[in-house]
Amino acid sequence: MKPLRMALTKGRLEKDTVALLERIGYDCEAVHNKGRKLILPVGDRLEVVLAKAADVITYVEHGVCDLGVVGKDTIMENGTSFYEVLDLGFGRCKFALAAPKGSDFFGGYASRTIATKYPNVARNYFESKAMDIRFIKIEGSVELAPLLGLSDAIVDIVETGTTLKENGLEVVETICDISARLIVNTASLKLRKAEIEELVAQMEQAKKQA
Ligand code: PRP
Repeated sequence: MKPLRMALTKGRLEKDTVALLERIGYDCEAVHNKGRKLILPVGDRLEVVLAKAADVITYVEHGVCDLGVVGKDTIMENGTSFYEVLDLGFGRCKFALAAPKGSDFFGGYASRTIATKYPNVARNYFESKAMDIRFIKIEGSVELAPLLGLSDAIVDIVETGTTLKENGLEVVETICDISARLIVNTASLKLRKAEIEELVAQMEQAKKQA
C-alpha cells in the first residue's frame, strides 16, 4: 500500500505539525534535512508535501494529497470541498477589523474602503452590516494600506498585535478565532478510512500532550 500523503503549509504550521508527528513516533528526519526537496517520507506509512497555504487546499481538493494541514483563515477564504476533521490547536490567531487608532470607523454614513488579503472573509463579515464598502486586495503587509491612505481600515490576521501597535493601528472588532486544521480529501476518507481514522486519532492524542 502506498503511503498516505499529507500536504503541510510551509513555515510555522509545518514545524508544529512535524513536532506533533514526532510525538506520535513518526521519523521526521527527512523533513529536518530536506534541503530543497518538496516531497519527503515520514516513516514508511506517510509522506509529507510542503506547499503554500492555498495550494494545500488545492492538492487536497483534487485528491493528490489525502490530508492537509492549513490555517482556518485559508479555509475560510478558499473553500471547503473536503472534510475538516481536527482543530490542531496551534497556529492560533484572530481575524480582525483594524483601523488607525482613534478613527471612528463605524461613525457616519460615508462609504468605506477595506484593504485585505482575504476579500471573501471581509465580504462575508460586512454582509450583515448595512454599509457601503469597497474592497481592495493586497498581497502582504496589509497594515501599509491605511498608512498610505489607500484604505480606511483592514481585515487581517492579528497574532501578537505588535504589527498593528507599531503602525498606529488598533482592532475595531474581532471577527473570529483561527487555528491550524487537519483536512482530508473526501474520496480518501472513504477509500482509506481505517488508516486515516487511526492517524487522526493519534494526532488528536498527541495534541493533548503538547
Ligand atoms: C501576518 C498578518 C500581520 C501579522 C500579524 O503577516 O498579515 O501582518 O502577521 O502578526 P502580529 O499580530 O503578531 O504582529 P505575515 O507575517 O504572515 O506576512 P505578510 O504581512 O507579508 O502577509
